[in-house]
Amino acid sequence: MIQLIDLHKEYKTKKGMVLGVDRVNLTIRKGDIFGIVGYSGAGKSSVLRCINLLEKPTSGKVVVDGVDLTSLSKEELRVARQKIGMIFQHFHLITSKTVFENVAFALKAAGKPPSLIDKRVTELLQLVGLADKAEHYPAQLSGGQKQRVGIARALANDPQVLLCDEPTSALDPTTTQSILSLLRDINKTLGLTIVLITHEMEVVKDLCHHVAIMQDGKIIEEGSVYEIFANPVQPLTREFIANTLEFKLPRKLWDKLDPAGKVVKVLFRDEAAEQAIIYDMLKASGIKANILHGKIEYIGDKPLGTFIMEVTGEPLEIDNALQYLVDRSCGVEVVDRVE
Ligand SMILES: Nc1ncnc2c1ncn2[C@@H]1O[C@H](COP(=O)(O)OP(=O)(O)OP(=O)(O)O)[C@@H](O)[C@H]1O
Ligand SMILES: [Mg+2]
Repeated sequence: MIQLIDLHKEYKTKKGMVLGVDRVNLTIRKGDIFGIVGYSGAGKSSVLRCINLLEKPTSGKVVVDGVDLTSLSKEELRVARQKIGMIFQHFHLITSKTVFENVAFALKAAGKPPSLIDKRVTELLQLVGLADKAEHYPAQLSGGQKQRVGIARALANDPQVLLCDEPTSALDPTTTQSILSLLRDINKTLGLTIVLITHEMEVVKDLCHHVAIMQDGKIIEEGSVYEIFANPVQPLTREFIANTLEFKLPRKLWDKLDPAGKVVKVLFRDEAAEQAIIYDMLKASGIKANILHGKIEYIGDKPLGTFIMEVTGEPLEIDNALQYLVDRSCGVEVVDRVE
């Protein structure tokens, strides 16, 4: 488990103090895949780099598995850091060393004997699917292969935590998917806790269990990925998920709608997404519904349905019908004309 307690980071620069992290409190459970999202400069990398003390916090504590890293001596910290692996957007491989040597380097640095190093590197390269690339140099690899080397190197000393700073931002969508599935497998098979920075909510939706949204050094909202997608509270969170979940009706469609009707967006959560609620509502009321858009997302195997429909009929009957949806634990929002 990782606990950040009142974590604060200020950078001293020639132009004065720059705030990186503003009194963040956060708990990340063991075995979790925890996403951190936010715009550039929000403080995501600062938080991540404070977790392994690559960046020394100005104040506050970083507790990993019950040990406050900020209280350790240099030598104790060096050992503790071996249990925290890290991968980067631009891979940070040593260009003059082969794939094998890049991975072996992490084991050498940890003082492992040569006999063990050979065996372990072979194992790791197999795990990340690069057994046949051991003697290649980084320049001879694709971006996805380079990131696999980064992952093998990060896993060399059997860490409990893997910190990932935008690991797929430099990769194309297909390669991104293959790296995400590798991370998912590692999390499952090794029980590794993963903390992952991304600016893509799609990545959060595909991979993470929990997510925090950062702005100006602060965490402004956090929760399970399903809750954040189903019930975002902060405007910035809504903005982030807008690209993946929101849908704007085309102007032409608005022009065709009955001005006496209402356009409503209905959100079906959990079991509600699997029941014939719209059918039940129409049967119980005298209104008509015309579905304009519909989609069911699966977030961690749980369905989240969004439907936009035009409802027409007596105003009182419409109100009753919408209340019926609310009573069946659906979210209902009347949509204004947006273009
Ligand atoms: N080494 C540093 N020296 C001075 N200021 C820094 C340093 N590192 C980060 N900052 C500042 O701290 C703030 C947070 O930066 P950080 O790199 O953590 O953001 P980020 O969310 O990771 O952004 P990005 O998405 O661009 O990577 C920014 O204002 C940044 O300029
Ligand atoms: Mg960053």
